[in-house]
Amino acid sequence: MRSSRVWLVIAALVGATLLALAQQAPSPEEEVARQKKLILEQSGILPGELYAAQGEDLFKKKRGPNNVSLEGCDFGLGAGKTEGAYAELPRYFADTNRVEDLDTRIVTCMVSLQGFKAADIKRSDVVAIAAYVASKSNGRPVKVRLDDVKEVAVYAMGKQLWYTRAGAQDFSCAVCHETNGGKRIRLQRLALVQADKVASHWPAYRFSNDQLWTMEDRIRGCYKQTRVTEPNYYSDAIIALSLYMSVAANGADVDAPGFVR
Ligand code: HEC
Repeated sequence: MRSSRVWLVIAALVGATLLALAQQAPSPEEEVARQKKLILEQSGILPGELYAAQGEDLFKKKRGPNNVSLEGCDFGLGAGKTEGAYAELPRYFADTNRVEDLDTRIVTCMVSLQGFKAADIKRSDVVAIAAYVASKSNGRPVKVRLDDVKEVAVYAMGKQLWYTRAGAQDFSCAVCHETNGGKRIRLQRLALVQADKVASHWPAYRFSNDQLWTMEDRIRGCYKQTRVTEPNYYSDAIIALSLYMSVAANGADVDAPGFVR
């Protein structure tokens, strides 16, 4: 009798301690909100906005061998139209006869308008410009269509890649982001990429490594994480996966640059 009462007391104490610990440890979502608030309090501006401002400078400045700005770049809605353009990317472009995502289109214009050699283009410039152009779609719903036959084909390729298992651990995107999506591994919650419509908040600032990543970096990061050789920047494989995830994000409001772990 006595010992069972002792056990009850111990169980109650352990229970209370576990509850206190659980209450202390913030959920991944709470941690993101807390970090965001902290940075805003300390500097009054979110890092993503700093990248976008830097991108705006690069976008409007006359640069490259041709000494012109990127203001004449066609992101799909006509030359010079950036408002709402990102919400409809990736899409097919007749001038390159290719489906392009935001990063790839920026590179295309840096080459064709400004005269840069593709090999000389700094990745950090592309990222900053992407942050700026994406921010011009904020508040608009993602609206990525599959009108052109090339778009249909690239989407099919993206879907196939999404389910392809690779690497020593035999992982696919779907294993982590569908089958196990919503679960936590350590401090991270595995995103349900399609259901959560996450493509709408990329490019995003990652406070865990103090970097701005576009969707291209995010995709490459996930390949690297599973020790599978990552596809090159601006490659069809990356664009295909991006198109596949963007179609799933249709209807969600663009919020870019986002703020993530
Ligand atoms: C081993 C599990 C794993 C695999 C496989 C994996 N990912 Fe991820 N992915 C993660 C983790 C973990 C994060 C969150 C990282 C963080 O918090 O910094 C993430 C984040 C993401 C995000 C951002 C989610 C958000 O909330 O915005 C996207 C998009 C994504 N992955 C796409 C992919 C694609 C595409 C593939 C296949 C090429 C892939 N992932 C394969 C684990 C995985």
